[in-house]
Amino acid sequence: MIDYTEKIPNNVDLGRDRVLQRALEHWQPAYMNWWYDMGPSESHALEVYLRTATSVEPDGWAQFGYVRMPEYRWGIFLQPRDAARQVNFGVHKGQPAWQEVPGEYRSTLRRVIVTQGDTEPASVEQQRLLGMCCPSLYDLRNIFQVNVEEGRHLWAMVYLLHRYFGRDGREEAEALLERRSGDADNPRILGAFNEPTPDWLAFYMFTFFTDRDGKFQLCALAESGFDPLARTCRFMLTEEAHHMFVGETGISRILQRTCEVMKEHKVENASDVRALGVIDLPTMQKYLNFHFSVTIDLFGSDASSNAASYYTTGLKGRYEETKIEDDHVLQNAEYPVLEVSGNKIIKRHVSALTALNERLRDDYIAEIQGGVDRWNNIIEQAGLSFRLTLPHKGFHRAIGNFAGHFISPEGEVLTKEAWDNNQYKWMPSREDHKFVQSLMTGRVIEPGKFANWIAPPIRGINRQPLNFEYVRFN
Ligand SMILES: [Fe+2]
Ligand SMILES: [Fe+2]
Repeated sequence: MIDYTEKIPNNVDLGRDRVLQRALEHWQPAYMNWWYDMGPSESHALEVYLRTATSVEPDGWAQFGYVRMPEYRWGIFLQPRDAARQVNFGVHKGQPAWQEVPGEYRSTLRRVIVTQGDTEPASVEQQRLLGMCCPSLYDLRNIFQVNVEEGRHLWAMVYLLHRYFGRDGREEAEALLERRSGDADNPRILGAFNEPTPDWLAFYMFTFFTDRDGKFQLCALAESGFDPLARTCRFMLTEEAHHMFVGETGISRILQRTCEVMKEHKVENASDVRALGVIDLPTMQKYLNFHFSVTIDLFGSDASSNAASYYTTGLKGRYEETKIEDDHVLQNAEYPVLEVSGNKIIKRHVSALTALNERLRDDYIAEIQGGVDRWNNIIEQAGLSFRLTLPHKGFHRAIGNFAGHFISPEGEVLTKEAWDNNQYKWMPSREDHKFVQSLMTGRVIEPGKFANWIAPPIRGINRQPLNFEYVRFN
């Protein structure tokens, strides 16, 4: 169990390392300042029914109760150590997993941890205004849960920086609180984390698509030969599952509500659907196209020497590395990637090592497709013929082989002119954003009530009823 009487709850025996403990206690007030500044707007006095991690045991790892978010116990929790664990891939395969940072990989490893760490506060910043227009108390509680856990994920990465990287690590930890999502001078590191999350549809899309990018990155880092990183990421994945659940069910509930209204009023036309105060299906498709495309950019270039060296050196593995049956070295293996040749997209086999980003992206897309299929079931069961589809991998890409090309959702190579003429048929236009925004007027905070554009969930949180007071405004 985790000791909550300590200033920083932890299961890493922080009390025995006074220097580290002091360094983290020094960082803590800076973190709180960041939370007061950039955490959810006007939320500090609210009492929120939150889960807090209390153990790393798979069953019963969390407890639920009312907490004011600034009093949330952000702690440092690592999965227990397996003394027999080895480096499972790359040139060091078969050696005992590293308990300290190998000197030659120090700066690379630090960069990997900083890049992951930077996404955690970024998403809190992106979402900070959404509580002001929540569709229900249930949803308000969920976004706050996601926000406090992203805060904890930042703590997880900062612990690694402080514990294993000395002075540079402490400097990086401070910089993590200084960058700001979307800031012109000091932005967050990765593109998708500088995009605004302006409305709840964008929030659910973000938690479905972008938090799942987080899952796949964490899964790859959970394979790391650097054991403390692997153990940290394993426990973060436990929390991450809820974030993706919020996204998938959020979109499901919007679809369900839209379909109900379409059937009840026998309307199909988007403007008639909108007139009834629900989100039309073509707009759902446009948001999906946007979020999918900016998120798959996060996996990086199709051909990447960095990805190859992260793998070869044992720092970052593949998704479910130890379940894959091959040599885990990949020196002679190949992997297919797509590229544009003239006005066609062609497949080319390249070294599997340089294609590791692409491979992780493909694993991700396969899981995403499952979610889209479940969304389509809802539309199908309503007896409507509309179907959501994932756009082509090359659609609206800014990184990798498709950057600089214009690819339609169907995968045709277009001229810039054709793209310009059609892009707002495929992605949300200013009017689409304005329409969705027009639904987000004020908070719905009466227990058990839901905004008109979204259906209630099937069940409440922690077996509580739907009309439970998930957030108390005192
Ligand atoms: Fe996270
Ligand atoms: Fe997350």
